[in-house]
Parts: sequence; structure tokens; C-alpha cells
Amino acid sequence: MTDKAWLDKLAKAKEGQYIPAPDVARDVFQIMNPSNADKQVALYVALLGKSRPLCGADAIRKLVEMNVCLKDNSLGFSNGFIKAHNRNVEVYSRAVCKSLGYGNLKTERIALSGEFHDIGKIAIPDNILNKPELLTDDERRLHIRPHPDTGAYMLSMLGKLFGVDFEDVIPNVRYHHEWRSGTGYPYGLRESDIPLGAQVISVCDVFDALTSRRPYKGPVVSEAALEIMAQEAGHFDRDLLEHAKNPLLKTFAELHQH
Ligand SMILES: [Fe+2]
Ligand SMILES: [Fe+2]
Repeated sequence: MTDKAWLDKLAKAKEGQYIPAPDVARDVFQIMNPSNADKQVALYVALLGKSRPLCGADAIRKLVEMNVCLKDNSLGFSNGFIKAHNRNVEVYSRAVCKSLGYGNLKTERIALSGEFHDIGKIAIPDNILNKPELLTDDERRLHIRPHPDTGAYMLSMLGKLFGVDFEDVIPNVRYHHEWRSGTGYPYGLRESDIPLGAQVISVCDVFDALTSRRPYKGPVVSEAALEIMAQEAGHFDRDLLEHAKNPLLKTFAELHQH
């Protein structure tokens, strides 16, 4: 899809205009896996015919799983580190929100945002995702930097497809790589311009990335991860980071006890 076509669709989606479901499905699947898009639209239509109504987040999980089944040469989300990472960020976000005293609904919406925060990475080629060396600047610019917008776009399209309201989730996904100092991406937002949910996810995202193995690096221990984050002055809100410490450490221990 060209940038212009994409922006037109986004504008339409924002205006709440009706876009026929198979068209939406085609766009979403094009992003997920261009070579299998037509096959997936056919599957999607069959799925709707058989098991309507799938609703809300369940529908999207199903779609992502479906996509993974068809990605024959990919780690995708089925067994790769991204699936574990999305789940970890969901669990960390829930724990941090609870310790901040957020209500159940707000907590669960931010946790859902955490679960889907990197959904846009499904559009990144596997050789980039699994590259054992650090990425080059060009590779980051071309493949990594667009993923928050890709994810936001996919959720907005998937929301249309299933009549699900992701209005509050989409900004958390779109802005999860913004830093309070204005040096994040893709928009360089500053301080309180970054939604609170996105800031919570950002803290949990970086903590999980530091404490996990990646193709290009080993994990650091949880306390060291928090120290590194505290030294990154300006990336995170200091109060938020302070509040997040205990729930992150406790949840880390729970996630890694087996
Ligand atoms: Fe991300
Ligand atoms: Fe992430």
C-alpha cells in the first residue's frame, strides 16, 4: 500500500466512514503477510460465516493466530520472542496499573494495549527481526520505526472489521516508543503529550526488553535493568518509574519462577 492510500484509509477510518469488511481484511492481511493476503481473506470470510460472532480482542487473537499458521517460514507470533514479549508487557502493565491505584477497566484497557503494543512488528521481515547483529540505521528507519503506526493502523482496521472500539488502545500503541525528553519515535512527542497508558507500556516494554534474551544480546538481571532505566534521565517520568519498581520486580520473579 502506498503512503497516500494508507493515509486516505486512516482518514476515512478516523471519520468513522464505513469501509467494506473484505476490503479492510485485505489491507490488514496485506500488512501481515502480503504473499498470503488473498488466501487469508478467503479464510476470514469462511471464519465469519462459521463462527460469527467472534468479538473484541478474541477476534484479533484469532486473526493473529490464523496469520501465524499461514506464515510458513516465520517465527511470527506463535513461538517467537515477540509473542512472549507482548504477553510479558501485558502482565507487567497490569501490575503497574494496579499499584498506581487505577480502576479495573482502565487497568485492563492498558493491559490490552500492552498485549497489542508490538502487533505492528508482524509486518517486519523475519531476517530483520531475527538478525543476530545490531540493526543498521537504515534498517531501523525502514523496518523498526514504522511499527507503532503500523500497529495503530492494524488495530483501527481490525476494530472496524469487528465493530470493536479501540479508541483508547490505539494511542497507547502508536506512542509506546515516545520518550518524555522528545527524543523518541515516530513523532518526538514530549512529556504529558504522551498518553499515560503509553508511558506505562513504555516502562514495561523497556524493562522486558532489557531482562530478555534477544538475537543480538543476552538478558540483564532485573535490578540492573531498573538502574539502567533510572540513568536514562528524561525518558521516563520519575514518579512513574519509582512506582513501577516493586510491581516490575515482583512480576519478573513470578514470570521467571519456572
Ligand atoms: Fe515496540
Ligand atoms: Fe515492545
